[in-house]
Amino acid sequence: MRVLVTGGAGFIGSRVVAHLLDGGAEVRVLDRLDPGVHAVAPEVDSRAELMVGDVTDPAVVAAAVAAVDAVSHQAAKVGLGVDFGDVGAYVAANDVGTASLLTALWSRRFRGRLVLASSMVVYGEGRSRCPRHGLVSPAPRLPADMEAGSFDPPCPFTGCTARLEVAAVAEDTPADPLNVYAATKLHQEHLCRLWGREAGAATVALRYHNVYGPGMPRDTPYAGVAAIFRSALAAGQAPQVFEDGGQTRDFVHVDDVARANVLALTVPSATGAYNVASGTPHTVLDMAEALAAAMSEGTAGPGAGPRPVVTGRWRPGDVRHVVASPQRAADELGFTATVSFEQGMAELATAATRGLARG
Ligand code: UD1
Repeated sequence: MRVLVTGGAGFIGSRVVAHLLDGGAEVRVLDRLDPGVHAVAPEVDSRAELMVGDVTDPAVVAAAVAAVDAVSHQAAKVGLGVDFGDVGAYVAANDVGTASLLTALWSRRFRGRLVLASSMVVYGEGRSRCPRHGLVSPAPRLPADMEAGSFDPPCPFTGCTARLEVAAVAEDTPADPLNVYAATKLHQEHLCRLWGREAGAATVALRYHNVYGPGMPRDTPYAGVAAIFRSALAAGQAPQVFEDGGQTRDFVHVDDVARANVLALTVPSATGAYNVASGTPHTVLDMAEALAAAMSEGTAGPGAGPRPVVTGRWRPGDVRHVVASPQRAADELGFTATVSFEQGMAELATAATRGLARG
């Protein structure tokens, strides 16, 4: 099998490339090696063919899709960004990039499999259980409530003040993108699905939960929380935990995510959206504590490093709890995560992180 991996030099893409190559696939990487993402030029696996270029460039992408049997579309602008002013950049990289890839596949009359890197952010505030109203999609959080230190989203039923219990989102949970990045991920999913329908090709959207592990990007407004905390601790600073630290996320190791990608590319019946998650959620404060403990262990002894600080600050566009059901991926892809939270955090404490001087 010959696979094109767009964004194959990135944090997740590079692990997808390595897993594909280890499994005997031939791999072509298309990556623009964006200096804003790669402070230091990344090393692309020498077993892969590297094409340096932008997925939004029709000539580049036409050459990239030539003679491949399957496509793994990882190239994207990720993260929450700075503010709404980033909208043009997200739309250009994610929506226009996907449209350009799909145009090239359409022109080639490609009928192979397309796997898209999507995200759990398409679910917005996810699902919760209200003791009075049952399973609900929580209402959006109001700035005034967050200012007052009330961070949990309310029940959507007017006047209901019951405390909601977080429920695991399955793939049929209605999408509700609450920031620009989330909106572009959902639009990418729609475009890929429409192409697949017209072309008669199988498409899969992998909804990654919070991916972490060796090779994470450095601390930027576009980096995930594990990378930000890792960078802070490496610089001897306390991780700044937003809200009250009770936000829930599912942290999933990058090698597990890469395995899910290989399965999505190779299991013949794989189609539609799949959560890619560990199935074991943790709060952001838990993660900060675990990483701080693991990093101080490696240096001056347990408890010696800075401890996380809960700041009460909050970011517009952040969601509160996103907890996934990994069931569909288990049943249909045969995917279950293998790296435990404890193992993964211990490894992250000492692993190299892109753009940092030292691991
Ligand atoms: C993250 C990724 C998103 C990806 C998704 C699924 C980023 C910015 N977001 O979304 O691209 O699609 O996982 O893989 O890469 N927080 C702190 N302190 C900080 C930074 C963040 O407490 O310094 C908190 C945030 O308020 C939030 C949580 O950590 O509650 C997670 O934040 P983050 O990793 O940025 O974004 P996600 O929405 O989880």
